Amino acid sequence: MRIIGLMSGTSVDGIDAALVEIEDHHTSLTIHLLQAQTYPYSESLRSQILDVCSGKPLSMESFATLDDAIAQEFAKAALAINHGHPKAQLIGSHGQTVFHRPRSPQAIETLGYSLQLGRGALIAHITQIKTISNFRAADIAAQGQGAPLVPPIDAALLTHLSHSRAIQNIGGIGNVTYLPARNAIQTPILGWDTGPGNMLLDLAITQFTNGKQTYDADGAWAATGEICNELVTHWLTQPFFSQAPPKSTGREQFSAAYLESCCQDAKPFSLMPADFLATLTELTARSIAQSYQQFLPELPDEVLLCGGGSRNSYLKSRIQANLPTAQVLTTDEAGINADAKEAIAFAVLAYWRHCGQCGNLPAVTGATQSVLLGEIHPTAV
Ligand SMILES: Nc1ncnc2c1ncn2[C@@H]1O[C@H](COP(=O)(O)OP(=O)(O)OP(=O)(O)O)[C@@H](O)[C@H]1O
Ligand SMILES: [Mg+2]
Repeated sequence: MRIIGLMSGTSVDGIDAALVEIEDHHTSLTIHLLQAQTYPYSESLRSQILDVCSGKPLSMESFATLDDAIAQEFAKAALAINHGHPKAQLIGSHGQTVFHRPRSPQAIETLGYSLQLGRGALIAHITQIKTISNFRAADIAAQGQGAPLVPPIDAALLTHLSHSRAIQNIGGIGNVTYLPARNAIQTPILGWDTGPGNMLLDLAITQFTNGKQTYDADGAWAATGEICNELVTHWLTQPFFSQAPPKSTGREQFSAAYLESCCQDAKPFSLMPADFLATLTELTARSIAQSYQQFLPELPDEVLLCGGGSRNSYLKSRIQANLPTAQVLTTDEAGINADAKEAIAFAVLAYWRHCGQCGNLPAVTGATQSVLLGEIHPTAV
């Protein structure tokens, strides 16, 4: 089946689109990636989304307009990725998260809430392709975090016969899937959000360059700085890092206000911008390594990076330095495009919904049961 996966994450950089052909062999899936592309948001749409994410009040009228503007961009991305190929039969659209309140272990009677804009009905109407959207809601209703949703797809595509693997996505937020080796029967698949991925770095760079640069390409700037380990150790005392899974997070926790508190903490150390960036990069690297040490049954043989942060070779080298016993690679080296993996995942989730197959892993999200993920928006007949 030919399916389009659409994803825009917490970085709010643009829409990752993947056109895939899925072959279902009942006990395994084969994915052929036909096309993959990121379609950046316009400056104006990006800043409207970032405003909403930061809690800026918005009338319902403006909110509805924004919802539809995002759906139109997603539909445009779907049509563009499909161009030159036979028409896809299905779209899986994650939409744009503008609010994520995970279920907290301190208030277990309150459900989480996660809101993605870009309504599926409009995407289906514009593209004339059946669209599945709003993937997180059913897991959250079943008392889950609604995140991470990618671990079962990682398990289907990246489990190795004899090596244990940590699949580490580094978007705005970082998330991991732990895949025991296929021959290690009864070891469970695990997953959680590890904390900030590129988000704090992106914000800091944007501030240092007055918006001329929005990310540290290849980690080149941070690589010239010196890490202040004392600060990293202090930042890692933030309760999220020691909270046991299931756990998820977002812009609400690790965004501008958090960066401001990091800047305050850094003042006594008189860091140069490059030192500050190196130190923030180390926070991402050490928070990943520390969470493996704390929450995995054993350290993985391989760490496979994906997402935009996998292109930051300085960050990659720091993850390797903090996990010396593991081999740190990218998912490209295991046959899955590292830039497109999250978009591919939403194509697979849509496929499972289409087939009536549950999509969440309760052991990962904390949900009380497996549920069907996503709402179906058919096209007019
Ligand atoms: N060449 C590069 N060098 C360093 N960082 C990069 C590079 N290319 C992209 N990035 C980083 O990756 C980010 C985008 O990553 P990605 O799209 O995977 O994240 P996301 O939108 O938050 O998605 P998701 O929620 O699916 O993880 C950019 O904001 C930037 O920080
Ligand atoms: Mg992105």
